[in-house]
Amino acid sequence: PSPQLKDTFNRQHNYLRISLTERCNLRCFYCMPEEGIELSPDGKLLTNQEILRLATLFVKSGVTKIRLTGGEPTIRKGILDIVGDLNGLRQYGLQSIGMTSNGLSLHRRLPQLVESGLTHLNLSLDTLDPFKFELITRRRGHEAVLKTLDVALKLPLASIKVNVVVIKNLNDHEVLDFVEMTKNMPISVRFIEFMPFTGNKWDKKKMVESSDLLERIRSRHPNVQRAPDELNDTARSWTVPGHTGSFGFISSMSDHFCATCNRLRLTADGQIKVCLFDAKEISLRDKIREGMTDEELLRTIGLAVNGKKEKHAGMEDIDVVTNRPMILIGGIRTKS
Ligand code: GTP
Ligand code: 5AD
Ligand code: SF4
Repeated sequence: PSPQLKDTFNRQHNYLRISLTERCNLRCFYCMPEEGIELSPDGKLLTNQEILRLATLFVKSGVTKIRLTGGEPTIRKGILDIVGDLNGLRQYGLQSIGMTSNGLSLHRRLPQLVESGLTHLNLSLDTLDPFKFELITRRRGHEAVLKTLDVALKLPLASIKVNVVVIKNLNDHEVLDFVEMTKNMPISVRFIEFMPFTGNKWDKKKMVESSDLLERIRSRHPNVQRAPDELNDTARSWTVPGHTGSFGFISSMSDHFCATCNRLRLTADGQIKVCLFDAKEISLRDKIREGMTDEELLRTIGLAVNGKKEKHAGMEDIDVVTNRPMILIGGIRTKS
């Protein structure tokens, strides 16, 4: 891989998360401020062609894994074409195309997406209770998400992960039910620590540490075993012996994984973001529209990667983070 995706801490970046839209069809309180967000005008968003051009540069520089995020990526018009275009980058070394989706309007289109080249699906599903679903997402649609999971299980996907953001006294008591789902489903359920973003009313008291959840799971399943993690995985995985699937913890707050971070992000409006918690961004969209050559774009990308801090964007304390709300980052951004 080309050296420009290696940062000053010797981290090689081979994973690009591309946000396709700032919009979402749900209003999860932990991701989107209640008053909504100020959307970029359509003309400021990357076009399909611009996405492909940038993705090609990243793949040629060593990116092997792309994940499509949002907002809700399935809302983006032409998502099938985007997946198909990205699939063409396999010739340059791209190995996987993933998507993180809330699954609300996906079950009909998922087979086509898989046919076009989608390989990995992460589905956000925080509760198994339809009433709680409405409390968390401020919308209806629990059944549709379950339907998507059902459809996904029948498709040739390389992996299906279920993302559960755990909030104290809201869904933490459902942890054992989620572990139960792994009995017969070949899924990986990931319990995610609630992270602070602008406007999401984060409070330490609403957070449940992963170690606490593991204790609770152990009291029901004393023989849980540590399972192997993929390289640079954000989650630490476990299984209940005999279960088809596994569960894991994404402990961004209590045990950050910055030392092995391999991610870069492209926001829907075309900014490169080298760290989830870093508000500093460089607009690749502007550079493209100013007529920069591929070489000049690569140099700009290299400069951004070089500026990546060792951990949490160089902040001591991410409790006070001011950043885009998650909805604008890509699977989480802040215009403050
Ligand atoms: P995989 O490619 O399957 O490993 O996906 P992922 O877990 O990286 O991505 P996903 O979109 O499913 O996000 C799940 C959770 O991972 C998010 O809610 C975040 O909590 C966390 N996460 C994703 N990317 C980052 C990151 O760059 N930094 C930190 N601290 N957390 C992240
Ligand atoms: N803390 C933790 N995870 C979050 N997500 C969105 N906002 C937050 C937050 N504040 C999760 C979504 C989705 C993933 C991309 O990010 O649930 O699964
Ligand atoms: Fe990487 Fe930044 Fe996330 Fe840490 S906070 S894991 S450095 S992206």
